[in-house]
Amino acid sequence: MSDEATRPPATPGTPPPPAVKPAVKPAAAKDAKPVARRSFLNWMTLAWTAFTASMLAAGTATARFMFPNVLFEPPPTFKAGFPNEIQAGQVDERFKSRGVWLVRTDFDQWAKSSGIFALSTVCTHLGCTPNWLEAEQKFKCPCHGSGYYKTGVNFEGPTPRPLERFAISIGDDGQIVVDKSRKFQQEKGEWVNPAAFLKL
Ligand code: FES
Repeated sequence: MSDEATRPPATPGTPPPPAVKPAVKPAAAKDAKPVARRSFLNWMTLAWTAFTASMLAAGTATARFMFPNVLFEPPPTFKAGFPNEIQAGQVDERFKSRGVWLVRTDFDQWAKSSGIFALSTVCTHLGCTPNWLEAEQKFKCPCHGSGYYKTGVNFEGPTPRPLERFAISIGDDGQIVVDKSRKFQQEKGEWVNPAAFLKL
């Protein structure tokens, strides 16, 4: 229905009331709904991303807790065969991979006896692994040239001190037992300790 039809009839002599203009919706109001929906979807996406990321982080933390990084090292004490498997004067290299040479001697000046001692394979200069040179009857470090006698005492190169010895004993079954958790240093006078030498 037009404004003309709803307007009351003009009284003669009075001016007609002004025409009522229909309210015009602002243009922005038309777009308000889609914009609000788009922003809601954006927020939902962000929220889900954050939720998923936090769940992944929590899962990783739980996995690290259940399966921690543990370094599995061989036990420091191990059996090293029977004494008669090593000849007098021999450097037994069977346990070099475990960080030990077994040396059998006719006479050890610190133990004042014949027997076997367990020598560390760690060079006392900077920790490389020397080689036993049978022809030269010495341990020679390939890194900087330190040399050690069969006893473990150093005599050449930059190393400041002898190789270390480990605790050695005989087990109940008659086998040699080496205990790497106990070390003996010659420069500290520790090679005279009975645990540092297996008398035979
Ligand atoms: S690490 Fe053996 S001589 Fe340097």
